[in-house]
Amino acid sequence: MYTAKKDRYNGKMPFSFCGKSGLQLPKIALGMWHNFGDMDDFDNAEKIARTAFDNGITHFDLANGYGPGPGAAETTFGKILKNGLDKYRDEMIISTKAGYKMWEGPYQDGGSRKYLMSSIDQSLKRMGLDYVDIFYSHRYDPNTPLDETASALSDIVKQGKALYVGISNYPVEETRKMLWLLAEKHTPCLIYQGKYNMFVREAEQGLFDVLQESGVGFIAFSPLAQGILSDKYMNGIPKNSRAANPNGFLQREEITPEVMDKVMRLNEIATKRGQTLSQMALAWVLRKEIVCTALVGVSSPQQLKINMKAAENTTFSEEESLLIKEILG
Ligand SMILES: NC(=O)c1ccc[n+]([C@@H]2O[C@H](COP(=O)([O-])OP(=O)(O)OC[C@H]3O[C@@H](n4cnc5c(N)ncnc54)[C@H](OP(=O)(O)O)[C@@H]3O)[C@@H](O)[C@H]2O)c1
Repeated sequence: MYTAKKDRYNGKMPFSFCGKSGLQLPKIALGMWHNFGDMDDFDNAEKIARTAFDNGITHFDLANGYGPGPGAAETTFGKILKNGLDKYRDEMIISTKAGYKMWEGPYQDGGSRKYLMSSIDQSLKRMGLDYVDIFYSHRYDPNTPLDETASALSDIVKQGKALYVGISNYPVEETRKMLWLLAEKHTPCLIYQGKYNMFVREAEQGLFDVLQESGVGFIAFSPLAQGILSDKYMNGIPKNSRAANPNGFLQREEITPEVMDKVMRLNEIATKRGQTLSQMALAWVLRKEIVCTALVGVSSPQQLKINMKAAENTTFSEEESLLIKEILG
């Protein structure tokens, strides 16, 4: 049976408040989109989760569909909890989401009350939990009135199935409306989960301002561009990589000579800073105050241990910032 390391909070992982809330999140959180599915090695998945917790990473992010195998990551995480991690439930922030296709029929997708209500119940069952800490509407659904989604999220909190709510992948204007609707229902939006990394910077075009004005925190997903912003692909596409995995979401075609040229130049700056490229890419995301957390995925405990160190240096000199800007274009 697992017992967590006693020194897990000894300055290993810095925390910051999520927006204007009273909830502190670790600067690095662990996402379970990949590597926790039906076909993945359970022992490795368990080691990754335990390594995270042992090093002060209190936040674990899931979604109903993470797998492969819909619901598989939640089932895996439920087993990991049962093997001893659940003793520390009050020290953990567990999030899940609903929004993308999950099962068959008309209620398996989107933002309807029907779908969100059944999905949260299924997620809790799979993980063996009474509540999650954060429940997200995973995407904006143009076919459901925003007020219906906001009411369902608010009721999920009032029923005690989630402590906070968040939204993910919403366009800027719909975000503004949703934040207003949730506040009106006395269930303020805690957090926005969006893609943000050196190669994908749309969040800087208005979204960060809207969140800042409303005191909502931002958690950056795919901060390593699914692994491209690391040393993984510097010598080609290794067999044990997401790009080589038929179940992975990263396509080989995304790893072009132009992209790799930028990666190699960024790597030179990282080396001068005394960081690996993955550490610098995470630090770059965390340099913005609005970004409370970088939400990483890892395929091994070693990768997590490397990435965690990113939080030790998240400031960039003017010269470094200019060089990076020039490379990213
Ligand atoms: N809200 C949403 O719509 C949404 C969408 C996507 C993701 N997310 C969340 O964000 C989390 C992270 O997304 P992501 O997995 O795409 O994140 P990522 O951190 O950009 O990429 C993770 C991948 O990068 C590689 N990697 C990580 N650390 C490395 C290191 N030190 N050295 C070399 N390679 C390294 C690993 O790939 P290999 O497997 O090749 O080793 C790993 O699986 C997800 O798990 C999920 O919780 C949310």
